[in-house]
Amino acid sequence: MKITLSVIKADIGGFVGHSSVHPEVLNRVKEVALEAKDNGIIKDVSVLACGDDIALVMTHTKGIDSSEIHEVAWNAFKEGTEVAKKLKMYGAGQDLLSDAFSGNIKGMGPGIAEMEFEERKSEPVIVFFADKTSPSAWNLPLYEMFADPMNTAGLVIDPSMHEGFIFEVLDVYTGMSIKLNTPEELYDLLVFIGATSRYCVKAVYRKKDREIAAVASTQKLSLMAGRYVGKDDPVLIVRCQSGFPAVGEVLEPFARPWFVEGWMRGSHTGPLMPVSFSQAKPTRFDGPPRVIAAGYQICEGELIGPSDLFDDPAFDQARLDASLMANYLRRQGIFEPHRLPPEEMEYTTLPKVLEKLKDRFKLVDTGRPKIHTEGEVAE
Ligand code: 13P
Ligand code: 13P
Ligand code: MG
Ligand code: MG
Repeated sequence: MKITLSVIKADIGGFVGHSSVHPEVLNRVKEVALEAKDNGIIKDVSVLACGDDIALVMTHTKGIDSSEIHEVAWNAFKEGTEVAKKLKMYGAGQDLLSDAFSGNIKGMGPGIAEMEFEERKSEPVIVFFADKTSPSAWNLPLYEMFADPMNTAGLVIDPSMHEGFIFEVLDVYTGMSIKLNTPEELYDLLVFIGATSRYCVKAVYRKKDREIAAVASTQKLSLMAGRYVGKDDPVLIVRCQSGFPAVGEVLEPFARPWFVEGWMRGSHTGPLMPVSFSQAKPTRFDGPPRVIAAGYQICEGELIGPSDLFDDPAFDQARLDASLMANYLRRQGIFEPHRLPPEEMEYTTLPKVLEKLKDRFKLVDTGRPKIHTEGEVAE
């Protein structure tokens, strides 16, 4: 059976501040989504929360980019926003950039990751969901899962993975994407995806048969809205086992935390901490950034799960490591590299301060030719 798995997420109001979701808001979103299940529009739905974000994990047979499915999510988030507004939750409706649904949820604020596949004899999938970070947070773990044999033994051992995987990489500024083959174009791939402020992995395919293996949400809200409207707080779907990395290979990169952009005011660098569902409440300096892993077995389109995969003492050390990494960075306060460089800062006052003080800048004789600023005529 061909099944579509659609994960659509939004921040529609935080409880308290940007730290979590109020149960009444979550319940309303669930109710609306379950109505769509009762009406036969979707086959199944599971609702996840990570920090102040809510994700609808839906199965159906309508393919990707189905306006009917996108509308289910839009309506659920709209209704949830009404409750969030009533309770005066923080930033109620934060990610809904438009008042009316116009056929496709892309570009309207919510993040979206969708894939269609023939359901296998057994179909284990993991939905990762992060708060206080951006989609490029997935670049490093996707590289390790699908291209690094030191992480994924299956790349060496499993004949159906041995040819490697194809990475689709998006330039979030131009909207252009490129497909790169691994292992042969690995170094080219890393040139791009190591530059996390510009490039993010959008999807991964198995090379042998072009089968979809992973899809990430790649919205860049700040670019879509033309002003700061919150961090992107992405989702990622990964298929596991039998020709894909094993569940443990997919989770393994998260055992060694790395730095991502986001955290306080979307303007800092911080470690991505893998946590259980109940620990997904970022309160220290609004962080550090969190990620949860929800495992499902899909059975005739039904979502059996979620299984809370980071709820495992084997990830305790990663949480301690992330706390230590957070301590080191917090020592830097408002100084880079804890604070992001100016072009990446989300709530930046820099342009205003520059404008206010522009007449007070004087040219200093540094011994190099004068650099002309825009509008100035060269002598
Ligand atoms: P089982 O032998 O338990 O199925 O495990 C195989 C596997 O893929 C472990 O990663
Ligand atoms: P969110 O993107 O999770 O809403 O967080 C915004 C923020 O400013 C955190 O400090
Ligand atoms: Mg928020
Ligand atoms: Mg958030």
